[in-house]
Amino acid sequence: MAHASLLASPPCTALAQDALAGLTAGGQKTLPCKYFYDEVGTLLFEVICALPEYGLSDADQRLIEAHAAEVAAACNPGTAVVELGSGSARKTRPLLEALAARQATLYLPIEISPAAIERSRRGLEGVAGLQFRPLAAEYLDGLAQVAARRRAGRLGAERLLVLFLGSTLGNFAPAEAADFLRSVRRHLRRGDHLLLGLDLAKPARQLRLAYDDPAGVTAAFNLNLLARLNRELGTDFDLRQWRHQVKCDRRGRWVQMHLRSRRTQTVRLPGAPRPVSFRRGETIWTESSHKVHRRDIAPLLAGAGFRLRRQWTDEQWPFAETLAQAV
Ligand code: AVI
Repeated sequence: MAHASLLASPPCTALAQDALAGLTAGGQKTLPCKYFYDEVGTLLFEVICALPEYGLSDADQRLIEAHAAEVAAACNPGTAVVELGSGSARKTRPLLEALAARQATLYLPIEISPAAIERSRRGLEGVAGLQFRPLAAEYLDGLAQVAARRRAGRLGAERLLVLFLGSTLGNFAPAEAADFLRSVRRHLRRGDHLLLGLDLAKPARQLRLAYDDPAGVTAAFNLNLLARLNRELGTDFDLRQWRHQVKCDRRGRWVQMHLRSRRTQTVRLPGAPRPVSFRRGETIWTESSHKVHRRDIAPLLAGAGFRLRRQWTDEQWPFAETLAQAV
């Protein structure tokens, strides 16, 4: 009975609408990966980043630590830092320290997860000269707000450095990634900078282990999406009837995460005219992570209106950090 009112009411949140669209449209069922990051998912992602099999995050951090001073030197004094999806901001700290050591620096993390905003606030406590001004918004909406404040002379900074780290761009389909970068560029002025962290193509075996770790943390992260629907929408996914599944490109250019139904089953979904049916072995596609070749990064940026200024790669894990400038 507790779910009756949920079932009767139309889906009103974005999560409810996206779940309805992704699970009832026909063909491959999908759920958007942005919904991984509720409080539990954000914590599980932090654990993933600490796993030895998932080298991406450590590589990103090593590169930022090693080159923070060069990035800071490339930016004009008084540049404000806008980070798209800051997470805990652990990686960003050395860069913010390098910038704030020269001059008081405004940091504007754009994050939809309030839990992550709070974690980044705590993580950056003690950075002298840093002004923390978070925006709880989707990336482009947040960036549009920052750009509007700058146009109105209310930002307190003339220049922007946009950070898009951790290979989050890889979670977009390639055409969407190119579109997204063009949209970012539209909110910037000539001379602004973008620091882009991208995971590079690597052997399929290495990729598979990174997304299907032996400790099962990534499986828990993936399954938490269904748990989140149960908690927030009142669906009745039985988590024991679902399995984490990873599909990998043989050339190491992409990896997909799916949730595979262990049996034929139905699930109640608010707003759906009838329970959603799943065949045994049918999957819900929850995430794609695209990997790039280093040589493809400059053309990708050029197509969006950026010129590559510096690029660094990690020696232990194929990953590239690229500093580009809006032209
Ligand atoms: C946030 N994003 C770049 C991660 C990735 O590698 O695609 C999310 C993730 N999914 C599974 N493990 C980590």
